[in-house]
Amino acid sequence: MVFVLLVALQLPLANFASAAEAAVASCFTPRLAQTLVACNPSVVGGWRKQSVVVLDGVLGREACERLRSEAEAIRSRGLLERAESSGDVMATQVTPDDDSMRRAATTLTALPRAIARAVGRRINDEVRGRQASGEAMSCLVEDGAHTNKLAVVETDGGAYLKHVDSILAGGMDPRKLTAIYYLNPNWSEAQGGHLRAWDAVVVGGDGGEAGPPAGGDGAVRVAPRGDRLVLFWSDGLVHDVEPLRIASEADHRWALTTWHLAADPAADRSLAQGLDPWLDVRHFGAPLTSLTAPARRLATRSLADACGRALQVMTRR
Ligand SMILES: *[C@@H]1O[C@H](CO)[C@@H](O)[C@H](O)[C@H]1NC(C)=O
Repeated sequence: MVFVLLVALQLPLANFASAAEAAVASCFTPRLAQTLVACNPSVVGGWRKQSVVVLDGVLGREACERLRSEAEAIRSRGLLERAESSGDVMATQVTPDDDSMRRAATTLTALPRAIARAVGRRINDEVRGRQASGEAMSCLVEDGAHTNKLAVVETDGGAYLKHVDSILAGGMDPRKLTAIYYLNPNWSEAQGGHLRAWDAVVVGGDGGEAGPPAGGDGAVRVAPRGDRLVLFWSDGLVHDVEPLRIASEADHRWALTTWHLAADPAADRSLAQGLDPWLDVRHFGAPLTSLTAPARRLATRSLADACGRALQVMTRR
């Protein structure tokens, strides 16, 4: 209760923001949170599988349609920039502090903060539930601080290359949990643009299309359907986006990504380590010798350089 009130006080767009938050929080069931936490390399050892948690019907179809038209309003006002990481993607960080953006998209600019609070708090509750009594570890910042990106793929054949969101060692990139909300109310299979994830298991979703049988390469595919929220650990999941087929503006693939920040990046075991060397070898062509420490640092650095520009775009405030 206190939590919802707090949000209402801090966000002038109290009605939608708190309703959105309540909806997100209520969908974020303990079971799903638990599954995610069980895969957290900073909480338990022996982490191998990465969960991709899929929540459907998070805000309702009407809200999703509204958010889509607000996203399009941001685009038509010229507030998107070409993402340097991928020439096919136009993107911006959304914030209610930008007057022009807030006027074009009052609900959309409030959403990432609401997601950051609701999901962050839910995850932390689970994490604390697993601590020995006396400890009170927080996994994620839960005051709403976050980074986000509203992105649209608007070019036929547009895609995202295989990557891990957060790969810098030493807590230099504090992003810990990725939450993607899709604004594609009329998405259909023929449009493509699935999120593809390796070494992953899909949890939740409304059936078949969330987790079709793993392809030959062991990847699972998640459809970017509207009103779907997808969650995964930013520092562990190898993923890409399959090419999109676009015939008209209605086929554009819109996604709002909220990156939750680690409460204490330096104390987080996996963030402190940076990209898992095995992932680097298996998915990004690093030589096996890079599994030894000094070479690994080099290899990780070269990958970091390659992703640096993408990272700048994604983390710009
Ligand atoms: C989705 O389809 C409905 C019904 O045809 C239409 O009213 C709505 O504008 C469409 N939304 C988008 C984003 O294309």
